Amino acid sequence: MKQELLRGSGCLAEVPAILAGQRVLLLTGRSAGATPEVEALARELGQVGTLQHVAFSTPLLDTREVDRVAASIEPRPDAIVAVGGGSIQDLAKCLKATWDCEVATVDELLGEVLGAGRQSEDSPGPGDGAGRVRGHETVHVAVPTTAGTGSEATCFATVYRDLRKESLEDPRLLPAVAVLDPTLLRGVPARVAGPCALDTLSQAIESVASRRATDASVDLAIEAVGLAAGAVLPAVLHRDLDAMARMQLASYRAGQAIQLTRTTLAHGLSYALSAHFGVPHGLAVFLVLPAVVRFNAGVGPEDCLDERGPAHYHARMERLFATLDVADHEALASWAEGLLARLGFSPRLADHGIEPADLRRIVDSALGSARSGNNPRRPRFEDLVDAIRST
Ligand SMILES: [Fe+2]
Repeated sequence: MKQELLRGSGCLAEVPAILAGQRVLLLTGRSAGATPEVEALARELGQVGTLQHVAFSTPLLDTREVDRVAASIEPRPDAIVAVGGGSIQDLAKCLKATWDCEVATVDELLGEVLGAGRQSEDSPGPGDGAGRVRGHETVHVAVPTTAGTGSEATCFATVYRDLRKESLEDPRLLPAVAVLDPTLLRGVPARVAGPCALDTLSQAIESVASRRATDASVDLAIEAVGLAAGAVLPAVLHRDLDAMARMQLASYRAGQAIQLTRTTLAHGLSYALSAHFGVPHGLAVFLVLPAVVRFNAGVGPEDCLDERGPAHYHARMERLFATLDVADHEALASWAEGLLARLGFSPRLADHGIEPADLRRIVDSALGSARSGNNPRRPRFEDLVDAIRST
């Protein structure tokens, strides 16, 4: 699927002309919906077409919430303009999938290939090949207000069912338009921007490590790491607009990278931290990333999941080390812990409410995730418990 990309300060103003004459659902977070930029966008959209505005807020997107929102929108829109962070973009993808496939609940679609595209990694079995999209395709215009998940660059959505992470994936879920307007990041407080930036960095680092890494994905991920490493502190702590623009592009590039590779074990471990302990997504990932980096350092021929062997993995990581000016895996793990501290977060799990008795449940949940199978080193239960116990 091709995507139109708009970039630069003020580019949000170009959106109404693209959607002239359309029935538009404006989907926003509760705070993002009240900013002057979004109020101006709503006015313009209302003047050139028909507009319905829904403000939505939840730390964890749940299938029941998707179904509730889907049932409340009548008539169905031609286009969704989603202004917000990863959950808002994922909600837009879930609504689009529900409407385009004409199903009553998003549950009916989880784990399926919706169109006639390729098989999803998370899919339980082969699709029927015919696809479930009925013909009408809702246009998704993704307007990220955080530099984090990179959902605007991917064709998958994360949604939780009974506190368990599920994925919805299909090539048709790549937003038709991505709008990277850095002025929209200015209103995001540091306590939100920090974890989002950590998600960008971890996604890029994990993409380099992923056993599915390709030359193209590594180039994208290395570009993301290079941009984010220099921009993260001035963007988050000093709200520097130029740094925010670089973080926004880093987030987009990291999204493009994981679109090719998916994430790995650090994301697999993080889901239980978010679902059961309320740790924001990017922070949860970065808390376990140092342990995963140290664990992967020991990959050998006997437990390497990358068919190209440990040497290929290490060569990719050398590019990453050079970009971050660190010597090796241990230095990378220490750099990550140092970044957490500089952003004001303790790198210790215990300081986030996670006790030693919780570790086995967290690892158990991670080993059931497709993300773990993406890791360059085969994770074993006891090894992983030991690795994160030292965190
Ligand atoms: Fe993430």
